[in-house]
Amino acid sequence: MQKLEQLYEGKAKKVYATDDPELYIVDYKDDATAFNGEKRGTIVGKGVINNQMSNYLMKRLEKEGVPTHFVEELSERETLVKKVQIVPLEVIIRNIAAGSFSKRYGVPEGEPFASPTIEFSYKNDDLGDPLINSYHVLAMKLATPEEIETIKKYAFKVNEVLSAFWSECGVTLVDFKLEFGRLADGTIVLADEISPDTCRLWDKATGEKLDKDRFRRDLGGVEDAYAEVMRRLREHDA
Ligand code: TMP
Ligand code: ASP
Repeated sequence: MQKLEQLYEGKAKKVYATDDPELYIVDYKDDATAFNGEKRGTIVGKGVINNQMSNYLMKRLEKEGVPTHFVEELSERETLVKKVQIVPLEVIIRNIAAGSFSKRYGVPEGEPFASPTIEFSYKNDDLGDPLINSYHVLAMKLATPEEIETIKKYAFKVNEVLSAFWSECGVTLVDFKLEFGRLADGTIVLADEISPDTCRLWDKATGEKLDKDRFRRDLGGVEDAYAEVMRRLREHDA
């Protein structure tokens, strides 16, 4: 597999073409941003952890019936993925109130929900990824009704699988963000990444934050937190 020209550079990853038009290479960086790029920094070793964690979790999800873009881990920071057209939605599942939910609805952070919630944001940096509902999605033709149903079904399945997995690691899955893409034939697959950048992960025993909120909120110990969740994940299968 030959790595060809860089197609795109995002906040946390670069994407390269390959000699197969249906396959891309993603290259994970240590760069961290928050608040739509206003806050910038580096989390040393994050790229390696996010690459390896995301691949591990996507493999687990594939086994549980959630199709993903994952093909093969090529190196510590590089992964071969299927080329997709990203559906421009951030799909957020929550089990416990935190972050923007707590702020918006006045529910204290840490309050468990009666049942998990789903919400969509419109992926648009210029607009600051505004909340959007399924009627808006249809009106703007961002996805079809069938695609919305498939995305919701997969997102809740991901929550079931990952909540159980993280619980076995002594970690509470508070909430997370997913992105989906379309393959050339229109099949919807899970894309982007699943990592401490995109999930809230709290130590089950102490409630300690083991995710990017340590960076967003200047809590310190950012690298240690990423290393700790990765260690727990590795230990699970050891
Ligand atoms: P929020 O509470 O700030 O809306 O975040 C919900 C979840 O989504 C949380 O696990 C962090 C993740 N997230 C991203 O992955 N990317 C983003 O740009 C934002 C704002 C949140
Ligand atoms: N990645 C997002 C950004 O820079 C925000 C976040 O994860 O909090 O804007």
